[in-house]
Amino acid sequence: MENQYIIKGGACLQGEVTISGAKNAALGILAAAIMTDETVMIDNLPNVRDINVLLTAIEGIGATVNRLGPHEVEINGSTINNMTIDYDSIKKIRASYYLLGALLGKYSRAQVALPGGCDIGSRPIDQHLKGFRALGATVNIEYGMINTYTDALTGSHIFLDVVSVGATINIMLAACLAEGKTVIENAAKEPHIVDVANFLNSMGANIKGAGTDKIRINGVERLHATEYSIIPDQIEAGTFMVAAAATKGDVLIRNVIPQHLEAISNKLIEIGAEVEEFDDAVRVAADHRLSHTQIKTLPHPGFPTDMQPQIATLLALSQGTSTVTESIFENRFKYVDELARMGANIKVEGNVAIIEGTEGLTGAAISAPDLRAGAALVVAALAADGYTTVDSIKYIERGYECFEKKLNALGATMEKIPVDDERAVQKFKLKAG
Ligand code: EPZ
Repeated sequence: MENQYIIKGGACLQGEVTISGAKNAALGILAAAIMTDETVMIDNLPNVRDINVLLTAIEGIGATVNRLGPHEVEINGSTINNMTIDYDSIKKIRASYYLLGALLGKYSRAQVALPGGCDIGSRPIDQHLKGFRALGATVNIEYGMINTYTDALTGSHIFLDVVSVGATINIMLAACLAEGKTVIENAAKEPHIVDVANFLNSMGANIKGAGTDKIRINGVERLHATEYSIIPDQIEAGTFMVAAAATKGDVLIRNVIPQHLEAISNKLIEIGAEVEEFDDAVRVAADHRLSHTQIKTLPHPGFPTDMQPQIATLLALSQGTSTVTESIFENRFKYVDELARMGANIKVEGNVAIIEGTEGLTGAAISAPDLRAGAALVVAALAADGYTTVDSIKYIERGYECFEKKLNALGATMEKIPVDDERAVQKFKLKAG
């Protein structure tokens, strides 16, 4: 049964929220965990659909997965007996393709279904394959599968043609057990890259320079057991920061690394929000309508593309004309039509959204087109006047743990109810008043 959120807008979010572990770090780390035959313990995992699907795929190739709790898992890769990741896993979570680099690095072979396009763009993986070939692997694509194998991987000097998070992580996985030295130039610098590198180093890998555009890897013989805690999710934190500003609230966002949020904090301050940084928390408040600005999404440390729909929603409520340029993905404005139904005034020309700020939005029945756009539409609904239903929330649940629970604890009025359940809608409206 499909679910939807029903939201009564208008409340100013107040109070404290604790951020979960970083989904995009956890996906690379779970794949890396199978590269040793010893037991690895990982905690601060976000309890979200993408993580649970990848853990199922890891079990599917024969690894031992022992869930110690919703945020903690033990993995042992010594029992792996299958090097094939089927299309079903890849369809559910593209990042299953990290198992390519992990299996190739550990067993010198792997077979993974080629991921298709997705909601936000075509998302090719040519740079991943370029890296594997540079390390000496044969890579063939046939019948929708990527087959890769090698006698032995040898280190190489790899120049990425585009800054790619996925390719940087996948190549780093394969290279850490390759013979000799690998350098990845034009590497992605996101916090989750650093977290995956730190995790691999805690298993005995020898990786330097993660977080810069030049990563140097000295291959080692084998990797060993480790215990590791995932960093907090930069994008979940940013989403709550924007929600606090959009609802003219005052929220303390706990369990963050403020340095990872700088691009977001600076933009919020620029348009007039109050942002206060603590060691592992950030407070965001706004008691008036904010101002306009220009946003251009860029690889880290630039403004993150995964925060583009959320900041655009905030600017739709701000004074004046703003522009948002999406320079990473080619189709990441699908939420604009949904926002228009709530009264937003946004025109998309190519990869630029021109936003005329409006005084307020009004509730409507809308649909989440993808993960981050879905979260942005929830922010719009929280700030809007009246009731909003957001369907296709399975996208949102891929990357946000207990989203409605966390928001209700901040004073939101929202519930998850079955789609097309008119009675549940009436019941909610009666209760919400
Ligand atoms: C990761 O996707 C994230 N996903 C995305 O977050 C995020 O939007 C993206 O990085 C950018 O930060 C995970 O980490 C699981 P890329 P990824 O490779 O690795 C092009 C979310 O909301 N490219 O950095 O797929 C590509 O088309 C998700 O959690 C190639 O051309 O992104 C894109 O234009 C959505 N060839 C650009 O590079 C390649 O081989 C950046 O993509 C690889 C990428």
